[in-house]
Amino acid sequence: MDAPRQADSPSRPRPIARERHEHFATCARGLEPLLHAELKALKFGNLERQVGGVQFTGTQVDAARANFELRTAIRVLRRVATFSAPDEASFHAGAKGVPWEQWIDSDATIRIDATSSDSRLDHTHYLEQLAKDAICDRFRELAGARPSVDLDDPVLPVRVHLSKDRCKLLLDTSGDSLHKRGWRVHQGKAPLAETFAAALVLHSGWDLRSPLVDPFCGSGTILVEALLLALDCAPGLFRERFAQERWKDHDAPAFARLRAELEARRKPASSVQGRLQVVGRDASATALEEARANLRSAGLADLVRLEQGRAEDWRPRRGWNAWLVSNPPWGERIGDERAARALLETLGAGLRADGAGWTACVLSGNPDLERAMGLGGAPFATWHNGGIECRAVVQRF
Ligand SMILES: C[S@@+](CC[C@H](N)C(=O)[O-])C[C@H]1O[C@@H](n2cnc3c(N)ncnc32)[C@H](O)[C@@H]1O
Repeated sequence: MDAPRQADSPSRPRPIARERHEHFATCARGLEPLLHAELKALKFGNLERQVGGVQFTGTQVDAARANFELRTAIRVLRRVATFSAPDEASFHAGAKGVPWEQWIDSDATIRIDATSSDSRLDHTHYLEQLAKDAICDRFRELAGARPSVDLDDPVLPVRVHLSKDRCKLLLDTSGDSLHKRGWRVHQGKAPLAETFAAALVLHSGWDLRSPLVDPFCGSGTILVEALLLALDCAPGLFRERFAQERWKDHDAPAFARLRAELEARRKPASSVQGRLQVVGRDASATALEEARANLRSAGLADLVRLEQGRAEDWRPRRGWNAWLVSNPPWGERIGDERAARALLETLGAGLRADGAGWTACVLSGNPDLERAMGLGGAPFATWHNGGIECRAVVQRF
């Protein structure tokens, strides 16, 4: 664990910004290979794939880059301490020994979230309480005042991970989940999380040039995420803020340089307009209105053709080497399942008849209906979406 550090004087350079830390980018279970590939493409060092995320080493500016650029991550955590915590006393001492004053003043707000597995301290609410007490005790001794708890918008969100009596304390550099990009103005009825939409596009192997169609586009999540990818636009550019920007060690000039670099790299919509065909369809006029508003909010409305229509009446255009990327309705209730089967059978028959050269990538909630659509036996990845296991299936026709 690092020793407490002196606060920087404004006139001195800030070496803290160049310090390298262990980080952990979290993701939904099953997305680890995609997240690993993203981090590799960004040239982050010491990558280690684990369940629920990927570990990497980097500076606070690297963490900011991860927050801006990663499409499949949920949050980026910075490890600040690891210690043995078989009992309350050792946990309190370990948590109190962390130089929290390096990131916040005593009048700031904190929030603690804990997990525990195979450990004697196994009550997570109690761990959160203990961690809060340890942080407050340290501030009381240093400054005579203590931070308060804010569950909604804390300045310093802290994670406690206890496993086999070893405790890791991590700072959540993201704050709000990274699926909250900042472009969404309409939720839609059953929106796919932005991280899953991006994952589906990445998993589909879309070449960023060929036409892309979502026949069940709903609020347009897949369309937006596909276009952000095609324009090399970091999804975090729409965010108002990441948690790390509120900390005392925040390197504002380096952060501003990073943002400017990402803005400059982002291709203008005009660079693909008229050349890239992206089509969103849905049976619901309301859904299409919502998709239009979301696309407009992301500055992408001119790049997408939105059409109202039932998927049963749609045929893949012959001769298009296009991608169909979608999360169709899979009929969660019994009655709905029959309707979904008929719908997906028709869609699959259309792809087999006219879709030579097309690639279909769907997020499936039901292997039986995959077979009905003609995707049975196609390679798939298993993803956990909000506790529900689903399969990302890709098939070339
Ligand atoms: C699971 S939602 C898609 C959500 C979307 N990916 C999003 O992020 O908002 C399924 C969509 O399929 C549409 N839908 C249902 N039956 C349809 C049909 N027969 N033809 C076309 N669209 C249909 C619904 O209106 C709904 O918007």
